[in-house]
Order: sequence, then structure tokens, then C-alpha cells
Amino acid sequence: MEIKKVGVVGCGLMGGGIVEVAAKAGYTVIVSEINQQLLDKGIAAINKSLSKAVERGKLAEEEKTSALQLIKGTVNMEDFKDCDLVIEAAVENMELKKKIFTDLDKICPQETILASNTSCLSIIDIAAVTQRQDKVLGMHFFNPVPLMKLVELVKTISTSEETLTTARVFGESLDKTVVIAQDTPGFIVNRLLLPFLLEAVKMLESGMATREDIDKAIVLGLNHPMGPLRLSDLVGLDTAYYICNAMYEETKDPRFAPPILLKKMVTAGQYGRKSRKGFYDYQPG
Ligand code: CAA
Repeated sequence: MEIKKVGVVGCGLMGGGIVEVAAKAGYTVIVSEINQQLLDKGIAAINKSLSKAVERGKLAEEEKTSALQLIKGTVNMEDFKDCDLVIEAAVENMELKKKIFTDLDKICPQETILASNTSCLSIIDIAAVTQRQDKVLGMHFFNPVPLMKLVELVKTISTSEETLTTARVFGESLDKTVVIAQDTPGFIVNRLLLPFLLEAVKMLESGMATREDIDKAIVLGLNHPMGPLRLSDLVGLDTAYYICNAMYEETKDPRFAPPILLKKMVTAGQYGRKSRKGFYDYQPG
């Protein structure tokens, strides 16, 4: 099956990034938000990222214009009715995702592939609310989407080979490298990343090293682009907290148990870059 028109549910950090890379690759994209204000904010962020790509010499001005012309925003899920693929990038809440997939299953034609960008939730639990389990899979992008080269495709026990092949061809057409993961908590990347991030928080919490030295050690000692505390701020401490809790609930594996410091910071509204305060300060100037 050939994908021509793509729907994206949610125009936040991840949804907006997916919209941007799909439009740059020449797909017609419909993106939905729960209200006009969030939609305008999301589209403005896409515009800003495309302008940055032009400034950095990664994109021609005309390519930016063409990409923007391919993007249509909506607050009405019915507008997904003629999409070949819909990628859900709403907040990490299972009940919300089930509701979205129930609606998409009614709105979209039987051949439409439905994907979730969830970073940890069970794809089969989401697929089970639809009448098309063979056409449901996980399609997990990484933050920041325009810069990160990987897409994890998550295959459930019901996902068909045809769906997986179509998703792989689509992912590669976005200039991404695709890996296939089974439908297990955290898939490949977060299963490895979360214990690493949480251990860095525990190290800071116990006073074993300063935040600067923990990050410096990993950047210089392992050649990572950023240290685990700065990366946690980028991912969002609320998101990291949600993911590790969900993985801990599912597996009861203590490697995924959230450290108390992380819980306290999330309770205090210190979410990292998005709230301008996390392990580091991000106040303007
Ligand atoms: N569009 C296109 N290209 C852009 C761009 C844009 N909007 N903005 C910047 N670029 C280009 C730049 O021109 C530059 O290109 P060159 O290397 O060719 O010069 C490159 O992208 C890097 O840009 P910057 O110099 O601005 O940024 P940087 O070098 O400081 O790198 C970073 C920033 C890519 C975020 C890097 O720090 C990094 O890779 N960090 C780790 C990110 C990571 O691990 N993400 C995964 C998080 S986990 C996740 O997402 C999954 C989950 O479920 C939690």
C-alpha cells in the first residue's frame, strides 16, 4: 500500500516534529489538536523549526514554503477520513489513546494504518479497541524529531507483515533508519535509556557527584552528545517520570523505579527545558 496522505493526532513537541518531517518528505499532512490555540502554537513551532533549517542551510526557502503548503491543521478528527496513515502523538495516557483509536477506527477507511508514537505503552492494548488489529503498530520517533535519525517500529502479535513493510517504507522515506521492536515495555531504546537516566538521578541524589561532573563524564568518557541529566531535561522530567512509572508497573523491575528526587521535581513543576527549570536553569539569557 502506498502512503500519500498522513494524519497526525497532536501538535506538541513530538507530533509537530512528525508533521514537519512528513511535509518535508512531500506528504500531505493533516494535524489535529484539541483546540485552536494549541493548534496555532504547534504550527508556529513547526514554522520556526523550518526557518531554523533554512538558516542552517539544511533546507531551501522554497522547500520550506512547499512543506508549509502541505500542512493543514484541524480541530476535527473527522478530517482524518481520507488519510492512508494516522500517527497518534497525544500525551502518554492509555485511556486517552484508547479513545482516540476507537474514534479513528470509526472515521478512517478499513485500509488506513493506525500508529501510536507512544514511548512505553502496550501497543496491543491500544490495538485491541479497534476492528483492525493487523493494521495497528507503534511508530516511535525521537526528540528532536527533525534531527534524530531513528524510528522504532513496534510490532504486536497481531500486526501484519504488510503493515510493517508499509510503515518501514514510509519511515525510510522520511530519511530515518528503521528498527523493529517487539511490543514490550520501553521497546528497545527506552528499555536501555531509562535505567541509565534514573541511575544518573540517583547518583546526584546520593551526592556521589555533581550534576556537571555526571554530565561531563558521560559526554567526554562515552562521547554522548549530552549527559544524562541534560538529556532528562530535554526529554522532560514529567515524561521520564511517566515512562519509568509505566514500565515499573508493567514489569515490577526495580531498574525502572523512579527515584524520589525525580518525583519531587515533577511535583514542584520542574519539568526541564519545557518549564525552564529542571536539573539546569533555562531562563532566557
Ligand atoms: N532543522 C534541520 N536541521 C537542524 C535544525 C532544524 N530545525 N536545527 C539544527 N539543525 C542541524 C544543525 O545545522 C546541525 O547540523 P550539522 O551537524 O550538519 O552542523 C545539527 O542539526 C545539530 O544542531 P545544533 O548545532 O543546533 O545542535 P547540537 O549540535 O547542540 O545538537 C542535539 C543538538 C541533536 C539535540 C544533540 O544534543 C543530541 O543529539 N542530543 C541527544 C538527543 C537525544 O538523545 N534524543 C533522544 C531523547 S529520548 C526520546 O526522544 C525517546 C523517548 O521516548 C523519551
